Amino acid sequence: MLNVTEMYVALFLLLQTVLGANILHIAPIAVRSHHIWNRALAFGLIKEGHNVTMLSRFEEKENFKNFHIILLEGFFDKPFEYYSLDSTQTNTFLNIKTLYDFSLFSCEHDLATQGFKTLMNYPRDFKFDLIIIDISIQQCLYPLIERFKNPPVVAVTPFLLPPVLSHLFGNPLQAAYMPYYNTKYTDRMSFLERITNFFLIHFEILYRKYMAIPAESKLAKKHFGENIQSLDEIERNISILISNYDPILCFPLALPPNIIPAGGLHIESVKPLPNDLKTIVDNAKEGLIIFTLGSHLRSDHMSISKRTTILNAFAKLPQTIFWKFESEIDDLPKNVIVRKWLPQNDILGNSKTKLLITHGGGLSTQEAMNHGIPVIAIPFNTDQYANAEKLANRNMAKILSYEDITTDSLHSAITEILNNPMYSTNIKQLSQRYKNRPEHPLKKAVFWVEYVLRHGSANFLNLASRDMYTYQAASYDVIMALLMGLYLLYSLISFIFTSCKFIYYRVYP
Ligand SMILES: *[C@@H]1O[C@H](CO)[C@@H](O)[C@H](O)[C@H]1NC(C)=O
Ligand SMILES: *[C@@H]1O[C@H](CO)[C@@H](O)[C@H](O)[C@H]1NC(C)=O
Repeated sequence: MLNVTEMYVALFLLLQTVLGANILHIAPIAVRSHHIWNRALAFGLIKEGHNVTMLSRFEEKENFKNFHIILLEGFFDKPFEYYSLDSTQTNTFLNIKTLYDFSLFSCEHDLATQGFKTLMNYPRDFKFDLIIIDISIQQCLYPLIERFKNPPVVAVTPFLLPPVLSHLFGNPLQAAYMPYYNTKYTDRMSFLERITNFFLIHFEILYRKYMAIPAESKLAKKHFGENIQSLDEIERNISILISNYDPILCFPLALPPNIIPAGGLHIESVKPLPNDLKTIVDNAKEGLIIFTLGSHLRSDHMSISKRTTILNAFAKLPQTIFWKFESEIDDLPKNVIVRKWLPQNDILGNSKTKLLITHGGGLSTQEAMNHGIPVIAIPFNTDQYANAEKLANRNMAKILSYEDITTDSLHSAITEILNNPMYSTNIKQLSQRYKNRPEHPLKKAVFWVEYVLRHGSANFLNLASRDMYTYQAASYDVIMALLMGLYLLYSLISFIFTSCKFIYYRVYP
């Protein structure tokens, strides 16, 4: 038994490790939505008194206490050509290659930046109590963990929950009902879809392991030295994965205890609109529609003819339409308002908003579901197809293909959603189910980061499958052995049968 003083000392030690921890948050991925999600988590931690140093590509306009950005400068001066409006790639296998090419391209840039050097030049004995790292792509930065003497590590992914990442944490593959994020499948697939899904999931696992990681490892060695720990080994030692997955927003899935679902942690409570927008909203008698292609794709890169097609459809509507558009447009229809930036969450939370037209990005669709606003999705790449299908499948959205949009098809999709209450009823019901929870997902995520801080790691939460090969964890070896056994048995029986027949005919010719 501890006496009272010892108890106080123990309590003090426990609290001390959590109060005001010094955290390095590696969030390099060059997509603003990843930054928005990571930043929300960082601010959740800062509110609890921690000091967060974030390696990021996105600058802050303001200074915040205990929030320090180390900028990976210059990336957007030479953007990666594949993720744009005119390259909607439809071959899913090629998409996997493109994703990892993007990862390597980003790595090459980052490791040569001043920001990276700044971090590497921190004093040798500088101590981070914990590292958070966005592991969606860019494994080349793992050696930073070793550089800061292997403190406990928490992985995060704003990219919902790709099978390849959940598998790293020991999750069974669930290929029969976990649709690959780059497909239009739902959790109920036909036999042929399950075959494709099975191949895609396994292909990505193999591609990542045997192509992408070795390439990034080679690059990492150039910058960190030949003797670094292997990237697999560092990855294997990461404690938990906090993911932007939620069973109500996505499909229900089985998760091991070391994967923490915190889907929608970036969604804040609704704030009042700035005055100019408030006046517009107050005057919108017939309601509001928001049109945004997210933070990555730029609406002003659209061809003039496509833009006119869209504006003609909007002009026929009585609603007021907010379009997130990055430059000016001459002769806009009276009911269309263009802004470079919109407080999307706050407008979605306004009772006048009736529809969101979006590219189907993870964060936007989550915000629509949170606020119960039906959607028209125009997906372009990566997980956008799956996000769109998830909504359409549950009758909360309609999907349009960007290439095929005409004034009529867009106008009729909008009027269908506005006039048929099914869409908004369904998504409002989902919104209520999602918001009915013991705690906000941000609070949950912060709790789990602090849990790892307090306990130094969370190895004890691992399923044993995390240490197995995929074929062992999925029992493919057992199935093979059984099939071979059956085949041997069959061969044996047919051998005996043929021999008997042979003997029989010899004896009684
Ligand atoms: C907070 O982070 C900054 C930037 O990395 C660092 O210079 C400072 O020493 C940290 N503060 C504490 C109290 O650890
Ligand atoms: C694994 O992580 C723990 C802390 O969580 C650390 O003490 C240990 O050195 C790490 N091991 C390797 C091989 O990185």
